[in-house]
Amino acid sequence: MFCGCSFLLFVLASGDLSSFDVEFLSKFDVVVVSCCTLSAKKLANGKCRKLSKRVAFYAVDCRDSCGEIFVDLQDYKYSKKKQDETVECDLKYPSFEDALSVPWRALHRRMSKLYYAMRVIEKFEEAEGRSTGEVSIADFSGLLKLKKEICTAQSLNESQVPDSLLKRLVTNATEFPPVCAIIGGILGQEVIKAISGKGDPLKNFFFFDAFDGKGIIEDISPK
Ligand SMILES: *[C@@H]1O[C@H](CO)[C@@H](O)[C@H](O)[C@H]1NC(C)=O
Ligand SMILES: *[C@@H]1O[C@H](CO)[C@@H](O)[C@H](O)[C@H]1NC(C)=O
Repeated sequence: MFCGCSFLLFVLASGDLSSFDVEFLSKFDVVVVSCCTLSAKKLANGKCRKLSKRVAFYAVDCRDSCGEIFVDLQDYKYSKKKQDETVECDLKYPSFEDALSVPWRALHRRMSKLYYAMRVIEKFEEAEGRSTGEVSIADFSGLLKLKKEICTAQSLNESQVPDSLLKRLVTNATEFPPVCAIIGGILGQEVIKAISGKGDPLKNFFFFDAFDGKGIIEDISPK
């Protein structure tokens, strides 16, 4: 489709990215990881950032009727049309690890609850040594305990991470086809923008919930 553009998609349940070295990744312009563990996402993103050329990095997750896209375009310059002029823009993206390090109390009050819920489940899977999506309703009490711990540590009111949302995300942990189609469509548009350098790219999280049909963009970057 794009001449000279190499595209790499990892779909890893086990998250074993250690076998892909920096040199291997340097063959690609776009790296998409999906169904990866928390540590695998950090690792893959970190490796992409070590390359001398800029690689567009995307991490995609779908759980139940919800999906999340994380975008890291590093230092990204692009142009956009404003009235009759072409304006040059420059966006600085944080790594996945740096984005996640932003204290929850520093985020705006109407932050997507999916952001918190996804992080709680991701942490739970990591702590329990599970693969992505390897959670079920049987883990619910463990998840609630972890949620409480994280909310206390982050000074966030627990009501920001509704139990009902956590329950929904682990009850049907496998991906819902319509959500994958929507997330895949948005991802496709973003990849086209990143490669062409035209149009405002998403910065830096996108959340979609098929339950209410809402798609939300959140910029979660350290100050
Ligand atoms: C947490 O939020 C709920 C609902 O908005 C509110 O009723 C409760 O008082 C809050 N708790 C604290 C400790 O702020
Ligand atoms: C899980 O998926 C099934 C089948 O699509 C649905 O009937 C059920 O309501 C879902 N459970 C939750 C908690 O959303």
